[in-house]
Amino acid sequence: MFLGGRMSLAHTCLPAMLLALVTTAAAGEKECDLVGVKGSESKREVALLKRLEPLANYSFTTNIENEREQYTYTFRVCRETPTGGEYSGLVQVDEKSKKTTVVGRINETHVASGTEWILLIYKGGESYGSHCGNEKRKAMVMITCNRKMLTGPFTMVAEEREKEEECFYLFEMESSVACPPVDSHLSVGSILLITFASLVAVYVIGGFLYQRLVVGAKGMEQFPHFAFWQDMGNLVADGCDFVCRSNPRNVPTAYRGVGDDQLSEEPEERDDHLLPM
Ligand SMILES: *[C@@H]1O[C@H](CO)[C@@H](O)[C@H](O)[C@H]1NC(C)=O
Ligand SMILES: *[C@@H]1O[C@H](CO)[C@@H](O)[C@H](O)[C@H]1NC(C)=O
Repeated sequence: MFLGGRMSLAHTCLPAMLLALVTTAAAGEKECDLVGVKGSESKREVALLKRLEPLANYSFTTNIENEREQYTYTFRVCRETPTGGEYSGLVQVDEKSKKTTVVGRINETHVASGTEWILLIYKGGESYGSHCGNEKRKAMVMITCNRKMLTGPFTMVAEEREKEEECFYLFEMESSVACPPVDSHLSVGSILLITFASLVAVYVIGGFLYQRLVVGAKGMEQFPHFAFWQDMGNLVADGCDFVCRSNPRNVPTAYRGVGDDQLSEEPEERDDHLLPM
């Protein structure tokens, strides 16, 4: 039925469509299949598989070794492993007996995500022998966010097979695909800066209008608190003068020695004009 649909599409649609169909067929690679037929799959899961796509070209392996056993696990994201056969997404190779066991298949994919992780689950692996009620094996791969690398190290966390059912093989890996998208919005600093600039603008414009329309000021006096800011400017300038100049122009009167010049006319205080008149 699906094939029939494709054929009629090929007959009726644009050459571009045909080309797309041909390239998909030529690639011939099996991909992750979610629960449900095409179109009725979970949109969330479909979107997550899209995020995982950059990993599809890679193959990940990890070795587990102890006194009795030595296993190699090979994992691919939504592609078949070279050794595991049809739909194998994660396989275990027993390095002693060279026996290959499919742990999970990509045609039974489930995927979920959180803020900084994506959990990829392959079900439908080969059945356990005596453990776990002879159910099919299941692989779970927790991919956590690492902005620095597309493919971080792939490691095995645990094999849970002591349960009566719902056993699993658990793996973890780091990848930038699990990271939330970087928001292009502003940092706290720039938000503060913009807020401050807006407040200044409101103050200047509002003050200007008030001075002009309500108080009836003219010229420079229209600026809000003009006298205050002028005095402020003078104070700052004096401060600079005092701090930065190596050779002060006016030595403050307080530091002068007692002498005849004290009797003479006091030099005009430079900040006299700050005093209320
Ligand atoms: C995978 O590799 C093929 C060829 O090597 C390339 O054309 C394709 O774009 C790659 N896909 C991704 C998702 O990197
Ligand atoms: C997935 O593929 C395997 C191997 O071809 C098959 O046995 C199994 O039934 C498939 N699972 C589904 C849900 O189609």
